[in-house]
Amino acid sequence: MGRLREGLPRGGWIDAGLGPHTFSRVDQKLHNYILFEHHMNLPVFQEPVMALDCWEHAFMIDYGIKKADYLDAFFKNVNWKVAEERLAKYSKHVR
Ligand SMILES: [Fe+2]
Repeated sequence: MGRLREGLPRGGWIDAGLGPHTFSRVDQKLHNYILFEHHMNLPVFQEPVMALDCWEHAFMIDYGIKKADYLDAFFKNVNWKVAEERLAKYSKHVR
């Protein structure tokens, strides 16, 4: 879990958009991206480890304007075991 947490962006995370956290098949490192569309400009040679959707449609129904509560709930519910398993799987393929 330490490696994954170290790779997460610090501070404000993202304002809006989709924030995929990926493992790069090119440099074999974790990367964070901010995508403003779900279907455009997707980074290539990346394996998804986890993603956070910060568009209003992802949280307004349940959290209203309380995006911080949404982010807290997101991190409380991350299945770190699954994320670690994905990272281990991708890391194994590039060695
Ligand atoms: Fe979305």
